[in-house]
Amino acid sequence: VGSERINTDIVTLTRYLNEEQTKHKEATGDFTLLCHALQFSFKSIAYYIRRASLINLGGLAGSSNVTGDDQKKLDVIGNDVFIAAMRSSGRVRVLVSEEEEEAIVFDEYPDARYAVMCDPIDGSSNLDAGVSVGTIFGIFKLAEGAKGTKEDLLKPGTSLVAAGFTMYGASAQLVMTMRGGAVNGFTMDNALGEFILTHPNMRIPKKRAIYSCNEGNSKYWEEPVLEWVNSLKQAEKPYSARYIGSMVADAYRTLLYGGIFAYPADKKSTKGKLRILYECAPMAMVFENAGGQAVNSKMDRMVEVIPEHIHDRSGIFMGSYDEVQKVIDIHKKHG
Ligand code: AHG
Ligand code: MN
Ligand code: MN
Ligand code: MN
Repeated sequence: VGSERINTDIVTLTRYLNEEQTKHKEATGDFTLLCHALQFSFKSIAYYIRRASLINLGGLAGSSNVTGDDQKKLDVIGNDVFIAAMRSSGRVRVLVSEEEEEAIVFDEYPDARYAVMCDPIDGSSNLDAGVSVGTIFGIFKLAEGAKGTKEDLLKPGTSLVAAGFTMYGASAQLVMTMRGGAVNGFTMDNALGEFILTHPNMRIPKKRAIYSCNEGNSKYWEEPVLEWVNSLKQAEKPYSARYIGSMVADAYRTLLYGGIFAYPADKKSTKGKLRILYECAPMAMVFENAGGQAVNSKMDRMVEVIPEHIHDRSGIFMGSYDEVQKVIDIHKKHG
């Protein structure tokens, strides 16, 4: 401490949202209120995760979700917390969650103008081991009078007005971005109960020799993916492998240090594993706005992909600009 000055003028998430709102003359404050409800859901999910081992929240719920995952007790609680927060905000017309087969339409708020997509707990298979997990979200603004139908949801990432994710690690981190805007990182100060802007205008390094993928799947990989990973391992200075198995945690590291995260489509999972609306598109928006790239297994820009169903999946490659470009170049060569 000593000579270091204490910052008495910190930017909390609340202050940041207020300042953003005043930049937009047409803003009604609805988006800000929605973000406050999001913030509450993050705090409360973080709290349950931290207390999980103490209050018997470990292990499986005994059910599975529509995409075939076994639900953990915390998947179910995180989902309930998220839905309650979105409903009570009064600003959400429709909600898509990994844990809900159908979109939830809030008819009690017919004038609400936002659609929210969420993965309440990403990386939940890691929960009992105390590994970092997080929440992913994406927000669409709806046209006046929208009833929250499928057409309001089956849109590309380029239509998102905001997206981001939290990571519940040594501290809770929130990364968020708005359309065409910067990526900002906040850290939860538990004593204040506030997210503090600690990483303004995050920019992903242009390159870095780190790759992150589940290489256990390589038996099923297509030729270009095999060639690409092999080229990294045979590089003059071979790349480091880092794979946590929670996309939020792998993505957060990639954003800060650079490198690439990949979950390609393969011969077994021909559509990939990660889901477009609440995993791939929000992450892709964050990576692009931080100066990186994100593409699917056909090398299309991930944010331009339009899902046909709300739980559709995609392959994804995202990370530093140059690292993703290597993947694109190898795929182009294979034609
Ligand atoms: P979720 O826990 O929300 O179902 O997501 C799991 C995802 C993602 O977090 C992670 O990157 C990936 O699944 C890990 O998959 P593998 O276990 O197949 O590597
Ligand atoms: Mn799951
Ligand atoms: Mn997930
Ligand atoms: Mn999940």
